[in-house]
Amino acid sequence: MRRKLVAGNWKMNGSLASLAELDGIGAAADARVDVAIAVPATLIASAAARASFPIGAEDVHAADSGAHTGCISAGMAKEAGAVFSIVGHSERRQGQCESDADVKAKAEALRRQGMDAILCVGETLEQREAGTAEAVVTGQVRASLPEGAGGDWLAIAYEPIWAIGTGRTATVADVEAMHGAIRATLAQLLGPEVASALRLLYGGSVTAENAAELLHARDVDGALVGGASLTAAKFAPIIAAGAAA
Ligand code: PGA
Repeated sequence: MRRKLVAGNWKMNGSLASLAELDGIGAAADARVDVAIAVPATLIASAAARASFPIGAEDVHAADSGAHTGCISAGMAKEAGAVFSIVGHSERRQGQCESDADVKAKAEALRRQGMDAILCVGETLEQREAGTAEAVVTGQVRASLPEGAGGDWLAIAYEPIWAIGTGRTATVADVEAMHGAIRATLAQLLGPEVASALRLLYGGSVTAENAAELLHARDVDGALVGGASLTAAKFAPIIAAGAAA
């Protein structure tokens, strides 16, 4: 039985003042569901000191150290208090030109530090309309899956790019079909037993209104939530939906 994970992603939002939201989010935590939030690097230490649930980074560099101005390593994020990081978010794949190989290396850097990873995949609207969504997404899974995948440390988040921050969500049928395809790909790569233990999250305009339906969908083991993770008022009902699912 896979435990549900409701994870937030604050992106380039938040300040020391907004960490007060973590108190309300912690109060909404439920023993039946895992809760985690990825925050900007500048907030990791304060957030980790304050939160009663795991705090993560939104990205890390693939290298352990070196001449990479402006980047932070997995070990640095860990020292600050992060226990996981998102890797391969579409805003980094697109905005920072990150390749599948980069994403794989970043996940492996987290693994070296004993940290967890949420590895994101997802197609563009053009790819969905062209009928290539499944091939694109399973291709990303194949090419970005880290060595040592399997077990609790890795979750995969399916986030259709056209659903992120747009208020548009994929239909339950689309999500179930894609998660099924991802799980089948993982079974080919890792064997059915390991694949069936990996958590698959859905992300893209998850809100209090649609969370219950999405979290009940077949092969959906949690949610990766952007905008609605910024306040306890919006995030708490999603946690509750995860606990009930
Ligand atoms: P959103 O973002 O919930 O604001 O659509 C999701 C994400 O990018 O992880």
